[in-house]
Amino acid sequence: MNIQPKFIVFEGIDGAGKTTQIKLLCEALEKQGIRCSTTVEPTDLPTGKELRRALSGELPKTPVEMAKLFAADRVAHNIDPNKGIEKTLSEGYSVVSDRYYYSSLAYQGAELGYDKVAALNLENPHIRRPDLCIFLDLTPEKSLERIGSRGEQAEIYENYDYLTRTRTMFFDVFDRLRAKGERIAIIDASGSVEEVAGKVIAEVLNVYQKI
Ligand code: TYD
Repeated sequence: MNIQPKFIVFEGIDGAGKTTQIKLLCEALEKQGIRCSTTVEPTDLPTGKELRRALSGELPKTPVEMAKLFAADRVAHNIDPNKGIEKTLSEGYSVVSDRYYYSSLAYQGAELGYDKVAALNLENPHIRRPDLCIFLDLTPEKSLERIGSRGEQAEIYENYDYLTRTRTMFFDVFDRLRAKGERIAIIDASGSVEEVAGKVIAEVLNVYQKI
C-alpha cells in the first residue's frame, strides 16, 4: 500500500490538549504503517527563537513586526533544507504541526485585521496549505475547569474573556477558510484523552487515500 504523505495542523485554546493528542495521533498513524513526523511553531530556527524572545517581552516588537516575523518563521518552517516541512514530506513522512497560519489569522488578525495577515500568509507561495486542520475545541468554562483542577489560581473573569475572544476569532477564521475550500475539523476536546484521540484519528484517516 502506497500512502501519499499529508500535512496536518493542530490548533486549540489553552488546556485543549494539543501536545498529548499530536503524540497519540502520530503513534496511531505509525501503527497503520503511515510514517509521521511532528513539528511546532514558533520553530527552533533563528526566526522562531526571535519570536520566543518577543513573546516573553524580552524583545519588544510592534504588532506588524510580529505578524511579519510569524510569517517569516513559517516560510523557514516550510523550506528549511534539513528539517523543513517540504523536505520531510518529500522523504515520505506525514507532518503534524502544533500551530500554523490559523494562529496568525486569529491572534495577529485580531490586532491588524484579517486581510493584512491573510496577505502575508495565504498569498505566500512558500507557505503550504495543510491537507487538514484539527481544532481541539473547548468551551471557556471547560478550559477554566481544567486550569482549576491543575491547582492553578485562575483570574476568572480575565481568563474567561480572553478564552472567549480567542475561540470566537478561530471560528471566524475557519468560516472564511472553509469558504475557500479548506478542510477544517472542529473536534470537541472535553471528553477523555482516549475519546478525543478516537475522534481525531477517525477524522485524519479520512484524508488518506490508498493509491
Ligand atoms: P507557546 O508557548 O508555544 O504556546 P502554546 O503552548 O499555547 O502553543 O507560544 C506560542 C504563542 O504564540 C501562543 O500564545 C500563540 C502565539 N502565536 C501567534 O500569536 N501567532 C502565530 O502565528 C503562532 C504560530 C503562535
